[in-house]
Amino acid sequence: MASQKGTRITWLGHATVLVTTAKGTNVLIDPFISGNPKYPKGYELPAKIPYMLLTHGHGDHISDAVPVAKKHGSKVVAIYELADYVGSQGVSDTMGMNLGGTVQLDDVAASMVDAKHSSGAQDQQGVHYVGVAAGFVLTIDGGPVLYHAGDTAVFGDMALIRDVYHPEVAMLPIGGYYTMGPREAAVAVRLLGAKTILPIHFGTFPPLTGTPKELAKLVDAGVEVVDWKPGDAI
Ligand code: NI
Ligand code: MN
Repeated sequence: MASQKGTRITWLGHATVLVTTAKGTNVLIDPFISGNPKYPKGYELPAKIPYMLLTHGHGDHISDAVPVAKKHGSKVVAIYELADYVGSQGVSDTMGMNLGGTVQLDDVAASMVDAKHSSGAQDQQGVHYVGVAAGFVLTIDGGPVLYHAGDTAVFGDMALIRDVYHPEVAMLPIGGYYTMGPREAAVAVRLLGAKTILPIHFGTFPPLTGTPKELAKLVDAGVEVVDWKPGDAI
């Protein structure tokens, strides 16, 4: 497995990922905990999570954003309208950015990049417009460049993500149905040029049938598709 230069990436099932840098900065992406059938049993989040990133407004990505941000003192970073929405739900510290922008979060530079997916936040009042779906590239001081695609189809401009940011580790949805599956993700891997692939957004619910093994058969030699389980860290 490629060296992650002291950065730890813990998969908490579905698209929920905790990144801990060598310096100790915790960044939580897309918290889906109470309703997540694949959340690792008994896993305790670290006490301090200074930053939370949200890729889009669907419930399987933001349903625990408000309680976790309150309990762990997180600044919530998301596209402008989604940050605003989470703020209206009671999160006091939000940062509303937009596609193409980069914000510095201690030793992590977080860049918001394209995704091809819908976005909308559903609650008792209906469905709210919360901007478009996004992905994040995390460029860690003295560490690797990570890409979390959020929910997305494969798209040609993943080549631009490669040109601009040079991601080494890519967290890609592979379940199919709501996102790309292994066939599409294999093309994404080629466009991105990342050598370590961490599959996410598969196996959580019955329609998400794609597997890391299927993807592993389709990628070029020299690319590692990590066959990990929720709770695993690399
Ligand atoms: Ni979604
Ligand atoms: Mn999703």
